[in-house]
Amino acid sequence: MIQFRPASIHDLELLTYWDTKQHVIDCDPEGDWNWEIELNRHPDWRELLIAEEEGEPIGFVQIIDPQKEETHYWGKIDPDNRAIDIWIGETNNLNKGYGTQIMNLIIKRCFNDQKVNAILVDPLKTNTKAHRFYERLGFTFTEEREFEGDTCYIYELKRYVGVEK
Ligand SMILES: CC(C)(COP(=O)(O)OP(=O)(O)OC[C@H]1O[C@@H](n2cnc3c(N)ncnc32)[C@H](O)[C@@H]1OP(=O)(O)O)[C@@H](O)C(=O)NCCC(=O)NCCS
Repeated sequence: MIQFRPASIHDLELLTYWDTKQHVIDCDPEGDWNWEIELNRHPDWRELLIAEEEGEPIGFVQIIDPQKEETHYWGKIDPDNRAIDIWIGETNNLNKGYGTQIMNLIIKRCFNDQKVNAILVDPLKTNTKAHRFYERLGFTFTEEREFEGDTCYIYELKRYVGVEK
């Protein structure tokens, strides 16, 4: 069973090690997460989570409120959205369904907050595996966009609004 716990400075070695994995490098080649600093910071617009399977860390998830995020990476954006980053750590844990399980739980976690209208992700244009992954989860492509020199595809999952009785 997948469970989440907040990432902490005690995960520095693990996250730095996962950063050396080719599939993690490929999804964000220029990225520098400044783990030493960020793992000690707890802004109210962000969650940094370690996903564990039976107590073993298998992946990382960041959830942000893109409007409140302080570098304004997402530019001008409505309130009450969430943006997600996710990766599986070990190569031998890819393609086992863990990513899907993690994202389904993260989607629930985000929409548990009744204010949240939509969840956004921004895989690189070249990351076709991630495009398939998000589409299977119900995300829809909205636009191609340049982020800090990277060409990304933006996908969005809107809150499902059921038919009122
Ligand atoms: C994107 C990512 C999180 C997906 O995680 P994952 O655990 O590999 O995803 P899943 O296992 O749920 O699905 C991946 C593939 O495995 C297949 N699969 C799922 N469960 C499976 C199972 N039990 N047995 C065999 N294959 C399975 C899926 O059909 C899917 O196939 P496809 O890629 O050919 O379409 C992972 O590839 C990753 O960490 N990538 C690097 C980081 C990244 O790109 N993050 C997103 C950037 S925004």
